[in-house]
Amino acid sequence: MLGASLDLNKTLKGAMKVLSDFLDMQRGTVALVEGDEIVIKAAHGLTIEELQLGRYKLGEGIIGQVAKSGYPIVVPNVGDEPVFLNRTGARKDINKSNIAFLCVPIMFKRDVLGVLSVDRLFADSRVSFDADLRLLKIIASLLTQHIKLSRQVEQEVQELIAERETLKSELRGKYRIENIIGKSSSMQDVFESVHRVAGSRATVLITGESGTGKELIAKAIHYMSARAKQPFIKLNCAAIPEGLLETELFGHEKGAFTGASSVRRGRFELANKGTIFLDEIGDLSLGLQPKILRVIQEREFERIGSEKTIKVDVRVIAATAKDLIQLVGEGDFREDLFYRLNVVPMFLPPLRQRMEDMEELIAFFLDKYNKENSRNVEISQDTVSAMAKYWWPGNIRELENTIERLVIMLPGRIVHPRDLPLNIRNFTKEVVENRITPLDKAEKEGIIEALRTTDGVLVKAAKLLGITPRQIGYKVKKYGIRKGIS
Ligand SMILES: Nc1ncnc2c1ncn2[C@@H]1O[C@H](COP(=O)(O)OP(=O)(O)OP(=O)(O)O)[C@@H](O)[C@H]1O
Ligand SMILES: [Mg+2]
Repeated sequence: MLGASLDLNKTLKGAMKVLSDFLDMQRGTVALVEGDEIVIKAAHGLTIEELQLGRYKLGEGIIGQVAKSGYPIVVPNVGDEPVFLNRTGARKDINKSNIAFLCVPIMFKRDVLGVLSVDRLFADSRVSFDADLRLLKIIASLLTQHIKLSRQVEQEVQELIAERETLKSELRGKYRIENIIGKSSSMQDVFESVHRVAGSRATVLITGESGTGKELIAKAIHYMSARAKQPFIKLNCAAIPEGLLETELFGHEKGAFTGASSVRRGRFELANKGTIFLDEIGDLSLGLQPKILRVIQEREFERIGSEKTIKVDVRVIAATAKDLIQLVGEGDFREDLFYRLNVVPMFLPPLRQRMEDMEELIAFFLDKYNKENSRNVEISQDTVSAMAKYWWPGNIRELENTIERLVIMLPGRIVHPRDLPLNIRNFTKEVVENRITPLDKAEKEGIIEALRTTDGVLVKAAKLLGITPRQIGYKVKKYGIRKGIS
């Protein structure tokens, strides 16, 4: 019976049945020590309800006393014994006077693993229980082996499961970058590219909506590369007026123009041996594009007002929220420059397309701003759910700002859905009430925005969105967008 299986409950129950069927022993039970309690694990002749009542403190009742002392106890006549708890209530229907209760410890070395007990029916009260006890002790020692073995197997299984989980999570987070959250598969792809590309000097073009982490990834590439100790120089191509961009990029000699009172080194020179990050490259004017192209191609340039060619060793990382291919198509971006930049493309998906990362991002920012503000704000689960229904047009930056604001402004300690900014609440409310998807809702917002910028001219709005007038007409109807909305 004991060798048949390693399922402890099953074999113990079977063993108790054998005792009952062949040996006039009723209600055999095996109880096992669990902490400071002893709990009946298997029994023959007890109902499930009775079984569940079988739980004793060590030292409590007969089973508890045997478990505590490690010595067998025989109660020759259950009816005469006040310590007998009969907790499970199993014997209420029997005349207690001809039942003996035999109870032996299941020992391993000096430890009590459990207690084996049986009811022995007898006709003659002068009977001796020595033989019975001897037999029960033998059975108990067999049980010891069995319990040990199955516990060992169980532990090994648990260890294997734990090991598998660690391996799995290591694999899941295989491409980890410090302080960048992203277990979603799309972000894991990005991380993988970052790891691969960091060791090379290859030019990288990062695209993605505003706030998706383009700059963060650019820095990660730099700091994971051999250039980490060299400068990371950022240039925002959209923020500097065209007239100044050239001096910013290439620098100038003393007296190159009025006001150039000293030599100035440009960003490319400053970035020598390091990385230059050309942010918002899609906003680079057509006039400057060939000049940038030349530096990227030749890695050389001249300061303004100088004939001398300066050679630099820089890695170029460019980023844009614009669709460069579309710009190329419209003649606003040079095709040759695009191909120079697009050596290793990386696309950062909008937050709404990687909601798997949401909870972790929330926890990350919550922790960051709690620490920064010495606060201890928490976000309720229904608030997290509400946030997951929003479309986050400003992506991770918007999420980060939202959480920072909440941490600073919240009077209480726990953020509830009502504490969320109105735009998020209204958005999610509409998503929930009208049963539209957040993506539909996002599309609707996009159309409204386009109509607003084109003063409600459908054809223009359609062009802006890159869809046909027919399509926009259909969507305007579908979403119930009215003229003059605001
Ligand atoms: N995966 C991420 N894990 C943690 N923080 C992130 C993540 N992505 C972005 N952030 C944070 O979100 C903010 C916006 O990121 P970043 O400035 O890199 O975005 P961006 O794509 O350059 O945006 P924009 O196009 O508006 O310049 C930063 O504070 C950044 O630290
Ligand atoms: Mg940026």
